[in-house]
Amino acid sequence: MKPAVIRQEPAASLQTARALPEEDRPIGIFDSGIGGLTVVREVMKILPNERIIYLGDTARVPYGTKSDRTIKAFTLQSCLFLLEHDVKMIIIACNTASAVALDFIANMFRIPVIGVIKPGSAAAASKTNTRRVGIIGTQTTINSHSYTRTLQSLNAQIEVFAQPCSLFVPIAEEGWLEHDVTMRVAEEYLKVFADTRIDTLVMGCTHYPILASAIQKTIDHVMGQHVHLIDSGIETAKQAKAILKESLLLNRSQSRTSNRFYVTDLPKNFSRVGQMFLGSAVDHVETVNVEIMGM
Ligand code: DGL
Repeated sequence: MKPAVIRQEPAASLQTARALPEEDRPIGIFDSGIGGLTVVREVMKILPNERIIYLGDTARVPYGTKSDRTIKAFTLQSCLFLLEHDVKMIIIACNTASAVALDFIANMFRIPVIGVIKPGSAAAASKTNTRRVGIIGTQTTINSHSYTRTLQSLNAQIEVFAQPCSLFVPIAEEGWLEHDVTMRVAEEYLKVFADTRIDTLVMGCTHYPILASAIQKTIDHVMGQHVHLIDSGIETAKQAKAILKESLLLNRSQSRTSNRFYVTDLPKNFSRVGQMFLGSAVDHVETVNVEIMGM
């Protein structure tokens, strides 16, 4: 186990301490656990030259049932850890942390900090014809109304219908992609959309892309027509590329040093679940402590 990473300075002091980021710095990606590897997978596809430092707060997952105060503190601690690795951008891959803590965190640092809610919402707003959009996510993400606010700030005429789907998280980790239980649970959750006339559904949780096929089949069946499924992780990877390009921070060299994966606890099922979420083996995993006393 690596030594604890403990920062004593207040976060704001980092603003003045940091020089402007350079293109060969890594991208930091943070999630409450392993789920954010679905976002890493998309970033690796869209930005193959970039080096990634991933932090999964596996010791304190799930965030989806925790209070705003706790999620903000955990997210700040995790971002400070990533800054220690001299990242040029932070992606908050966790929908729950993006919904609750992004506004609190974003202006503390000089580097860009992006979440998954805005990119997912922007894609949904441009895809919907009926201006009726469904959102699925954790209880905390749905309770925050963050997707609803963001969608309606993009287009005030959009009506949003939201449904928490908490059981999708353990089902995805089980790897039950189209198991009978998965289809039954999907039917139970998604039938609430039956009379809504949504034509677009946002998968507002890191775990849901693993179950995309089951979700697609079920929502199409419930609505009696094809529904556009939005993967917030894919949209976030595209936004990360656009921001890096605009800031002249894209890493153009082909010589990639390896990515690093940090977790706050190494769960027994890590390599099986990690491989399923990332789409390839997760190498170079280290356990760290990101807790800061008093936060
Ligand atoms: N990563 C979380 C999200 O995207 C799901 C798991 C959790 O509840 O922490 O909302």
